[in-house]
Amino acid sequence: MPYKVLILVCGIIGYTGNKKASKVVLKGLMTLEYRGYDSAGIVTLDPKIRIQKNVGKINQIDFDMEKLPGNVGIGHTRWATHGGVTKENCHPHISNNGKIAVVHNGIIENYQELRTFLEAKGFVFNTQTDTEVIPNLIEMYMKENDFLDAVKKSIKMLEGSYALAIVCEGLEKVIAVRKDSPLVVGVGDEEFFVASDVPAFIEHTKKVIYLHENDLVIINKKLKIFNLKEDREVERPVHNIDWDMEQAKKGNFEHFMLKEIAEQTESIKKSLRNNTKEIERVSWMINDARKVYLIGCGSSYHACLSASYKFSSLAKKHLDVVLASEFSNYRDLIEQDSLVIAVSQSGETADILEAVKSAKEKGAKVVSIVNVTGSSLTRESDELLMMNSGPEISVLSTKTYTSQLVVLTLLAYATAGRYDEGKAKIKDLINYVYYITSANARDYIRKLSEKIKDSEHIYLIGRGLQYPTALEAALKIKEVSYIHAEGFAGGELKHGAIAMIEKGTPCIVFTSDLTEKEMVGNASELKARGAYIIGIGPRNNDLFDFFIKVMQADEANSICQIIPIQILAYQLALLRGCDPDRPRNLAKSVTVK
Ligand code: AGP
Ligand code: GLU
Repeated sequence: MPYKVLILVCGIIGYTGNKKASKVVLKGLMTLEYRGYDSAGIVTLDPKIRIQKNVGKINQIDFDMEKLPGNVGIGHTRWATHGGVTKENCHPHISNNGKIAVVHNGIIENYQELRTFLEAKGFVFNTQTDTEVIPNLIEMYMKENDFLDAVKKSIKMLEGSYALAIVCEGLEKVIAVRKDSPLVVGVGDEEFFVASDVPAFIEHTKKVIYLHENDLVIINKKLKIFNLKEDREVERPVHNIDWDMEQAKKGNFEHFMLKEIAEQTESIKKSLRNNTKEIERVSWMINDARKVYLIGCGSSYHACLSASYKFSSLAKKHLDVVLASEFSNYRDLIEQDSLVIAVSQSGETADILEAVKSAKEKGAKVVSIVNVTGSSLTRESDELLMMNSGPEISVLSTKTYTSQLVVLTLLAYATAGRYDEGKAKIKDLINYVYYITSANARDYIRKLSEKIKDSEHIYLIGRGLQYPTALEAALKIKEVSYIHAEGFAGGELKHGAIAMIEKGTPCIVFTSDLTEKEMVGNASELKARGAYIIGIGPRNNDLFDFFIKVMQADEANSICQIIPIQILAYQLALLRGCDPDRPRNLAKSVTVK
């Protein structure tokens, strides 16, 4: 029975070169912890296999680096999918003969059959993980093949998703392969890296190769890439990363989340630098298409919903907004003249990739709005609009959410033939964003976070363009402070939601010039039931117990009105002892369904 497991991701890394591999691997894993972190492990070759692994976050595991010698190594931070969080189930996993070690990001969907197949050949399994079948398949094939061919034959047996790094005792090399999970190569001076993401090795090199689906790479003193589907050696371009480890580090902020909220003055400017020609080309595709679908997950979905209001008001164009995970239900509506606009910060979200694949199978054109260069989604698209937000390390989408809104707002204006007007509208925001992300504004918002930090529920209400903002605001609060927060349309209050309001219930009411009258009406209904009213908008009101003034920016309201909530959510997390960068149960990119 097919299962839909919302699983999270982990981080893998592999190294060959002249440095002490365990040191490079350990530091690299620390930069990948945001991807998933319940346990970790390292293997190095000297040339015997040396392994150390344990449960806990990396900085809680006492690796003895003296017992991890050698210049070749692999490492893993795990987010368990198959088999509990135990020392045995940590990666790397070792073959029965102790000579093959593997780290894995993803799910091997046919692991039970493979386990039965291998047990029938005398293999013994010591863990509950799906991954453990991989080193044993390689051991089995190495009875009649060399290491590379044994890996290739083993991969052919696998169904599911995987980014793998594999070593074999006595061979100074790492073989890595990817399918449906991200993997990049770092190209150094006589040293090479493979990893789930660039921060793992950026302090050593900024030269990066983004592996394609089914690419297999061998790193030792040199680099070779094969594509297993094309069954041939391939060349992949080497990109130069234009940001450095400092940017990917916290700077003088306590958490990545606050750093990235504060970066929005810059990231919004960078998102404005999209190539005008590309925006205009996409706007023509939108005008030419018979049906246009905006698809995304989580915050990216909220950006899509927000954009649909702008296309309606600016370009008089109806765009269907669909959760990427629900897109398969629309499959029969997709035609050759349909256009799908896929919005994804990471470009690796499994639901998005699957939706795009099914749209392309029906002949639709795909435009993607992505932040991560070289991500899978960028290669599946007919046209690409980059968000240019720079690396977003915190699990929460903050600066990339407003960057998505910038690109989508420009697109809506361009579709209406008013691109320059849209650009000017966004530029008008910059001073406000600078003010609202400043320490003074954050101190003011802290007064609110201290008032509502012990709330059990927080409700967020908006109309028109402020409705998607209410949904995104609720997501921000709940995913980082674990307070139940629910966003809904103001007009829906009387259709049920108001039953939840009790004395002192915090209700955040978003207003704008267009919706002020109705929203004040909602605030009055809430106040009558004892709610604590927080107003966010251009004008204060006697009904508000707390007010955050946000400039009136019309179609750009969605960009400036979310920022105070990002700050509020961050502060609530700190006041409640939560980790803003690594919320429980979440990871930065959900690369498998
Ligand atoms: C937002 O704060 C969350 N991290 C999550 O909802 C995220 O927006 C969603 O998983 C989509 O990610 P993507 O933009 O990388 O596809
Ligand atoms: N499925 C593997 C396991 O549960 C890998 C999970 C991950 O991607 O961290 O160990």
